[in-house]
Amino acid sequence: MSELTGLRDDVYRRPLATALSRLGLGSGWRCLDVGAGGGDVSVALAEMVGRHGRIYAVDSDPRARDEVARTAAAHTQVIALTQAGEDLILPEQVDLAFCRFLLLHVHDPSVVLCRMAAVVRAGGWVVAQEPITSAGRIAGSPMSMPDARHPDIGAMLPALVRDAGLEVVDAWAEAPAGVGPGPVARYLETLTGVDPGDDPVVLPPLVTVIGRRAEEGESGPSQ
Ligand SMILES: C[S@@+](CC[C@H](N)C(=O)[O-])C[C@H]1O[C@@H](n2cnc3c(N)ncnc32)[C@H](O)[C@@H]1O
Repeated sequence: MSELTGLRDDVYRRPLATALSRLGLGSGWRCLDVGAGGGDVSVALAEMVGRHGRIYAVDSDPRARDEVARTAAAHTQVIALTQAGEDLILPEQVDLAFCRFLLLHVHDPSVVLCRMAAVVRAGGWVVAQEPITSAGRIAGSPMSMPDARHPDIGAMLPALVRDAGLEVVDAWAEAPAGVGPGPVARYLETLTGVDPGDDPVVLPPLVTVIGRRAEEGESGPSQ
């Protein structure tokens, strides 16, 4: 796990670490992180691909570019771009297109997934990690994120990835849980402003889908 130290403080690090190790992500890979936000995932990817790899950290909010530049200052292989996921254009094809906590916010998740699939090389990977927010629990009661356009998009994610023309190689859901002070309570408070005190918390399950683009001459999934 040492290569994933950039994700140490992230309560959702485990599904990310599992997904990346399934792919064999390593030195020299070209990756795209869409909806990169502050760039924590981009930096974790940069640590894994090394100096010879490249990470495109894309976000529609221009402020994210400065934030990524600060977070990734020590990683010259991270290139921050202001672009909407719906209009993705990169100077080269990538081995991996990744997004986390993005599709719940976009107008049409299918359009973004199709753009991600289009910038991946033949035989390359699309990994999407999105929540089912209404399945989170505080003291046993459901929590949700009504402000998001698609708060439960994780529940549809395997079908969305398949419908973007990708083979669904693996899919699963994981939810961090805890009680009392600690990273789960801190994360919840940051996300929602709610301090759970001593109540038990199950954060929204994050659904991970690993999709693969067919090799040249290989037929894609039947739809
Ligand atoms: C909740 S943050 C997720 C940050 C990061 N992916 C993570 O997991 O920590 C969502 C990010 O997606 C960006 N975003 C929202 N709609 C977008 C779009 N259509 N295209 C690209 N980025 C978008 C937002 O500006 C924000 O930085």
